[in-house]
Amino acid sequence: MAKSYSKYIAKLGLSGKGTIVVTGGNSGIGFAFAKEAATLGYHIILAVRNLSRGESAKSKILEASPLAKVEVYELDVSKHDSVRHFVDKVISDCLDIDVFYCNAGIYRTPFAISEEGLEEQVNTNYFGNYLLYKWLKPYLLSLGHQVRFVLTSSIVARFAKWDDAYFFGKLPYKKAKAYSASKLAINMFFKFLIEDCKGSFILPLLVHPGICYTPLIYKAFADRKLVLLANRLLRLFFHSPEKAALGSLYLLQEKIEFPCFVGPRGPFHLSGYPKTYHLYQGNLKGYSSFVAESEEIYKERFSLDK
Ligand SMILES: NC(=O)c1ccc[n+]([C@@H]2O[C@H](COP(=O)([O-])OP(=O)(O)OC[C@H]3O[C@@H](n4cnc5c(N)ncnc54)[C@H](OP(=O)(O)O)[C@@H]3O)[C@@H](O)[C@H]2O)c1
Repeated sequence: MAKSYSKYIAKLGLSGKGTIVVTGGNSGIGFAFAKEAATLGYHIILAVRNLSRGESAKSKILEASPLAKVEVYELDVSKHDSVRHFVDKVISDCLDIDVFYCNAGIYRTPFAISEEGLEEQVNTNYFGNYLLYKWLKPYLLSLGHQVRFVLTSSIVARFAKWDDAYFFGKLPYKKAKAYSASKLAINMFFKFLIEDCKGSFILPLLVHPGICYTPLIYKAFADRKLVLLANRLLRLFFHSPEKAALGSLYLLQEKIEFPCFVGPRGPFHLSGYPKTYHLYQGNLKGYSSFVAESEEIYKERFSLDK
């Protein structure tokens, strides 16, 4: 981590104690966060869809901090059986989780439908987290201490308008609109979690990491050389994954005791050091029907009691 960030992190006064699960912790912002948190002393679980990419991320963290405690668990958030196996493993390992950071995500992917009929960006970026919460909740509550449940949003959620058709792939399919909708879904899910977790040990938190050049951006524009070049140049105005990870590190502070939304404080909220935002961002008008539809889809296609 750059020296200036180290100073910033030192000021946060983080305890370095406890266990943090990071989904998609093998790459980009999740990796930058995991590396820093491991260096601070936290026990890190990299929950990844590809175990060899997870092991290589673990090796890089251990290279930087040989005493770090890092484990790799398999989790593909887009596949409900993988989510189920992951939850079963967490429970059978009696993993004492303090922070669950839902970071994994995809961006502007071609049209695809999951086995259960959900559009892949909404499925991966939102519904996988919905399932994780649903299936982990009784276990997390049984731990008897606070668990921070961190969701990852994006600035683009502000410009989206929800329509339940996004669950199944709103046609004609627009990659960018589906991504924005998946992040608006996260903002609405966060609103639901604030109500659902009230008075319980689970503390819902939301982070918008800001814009940074990661494999997410590279993969999205790999076939559009000019856009990729523009993104590379714009890197000067965006921030690094390390700086983007400061938002989720900020949320580890003991003083964060209530639901909170954090993002960069720079112009247009694209980059910069973290600050807290208004809790509810974006057009959340469709919120009630969205929550009801999520529950309906869950009962029809994912419920364990089917
Ligand atoms: N970069 C930005 O400018 C930006 C801006 C706003 C929000 N975000 C959000 O920040 C988060 C992290 O993005 P990033 O930029 O760090 O991208 P990244 O480097 O591509 O990291 C995304 C991670 O998610 C994992 N992932 C993707 N699909 C998965 C699945 N089905 N199951 C499990 N893991 C999966 C990827 O695994 P693989 O390595 O196996 O592909 C990777 O580890 C995302 O939620 C993204 O939407 C990013």
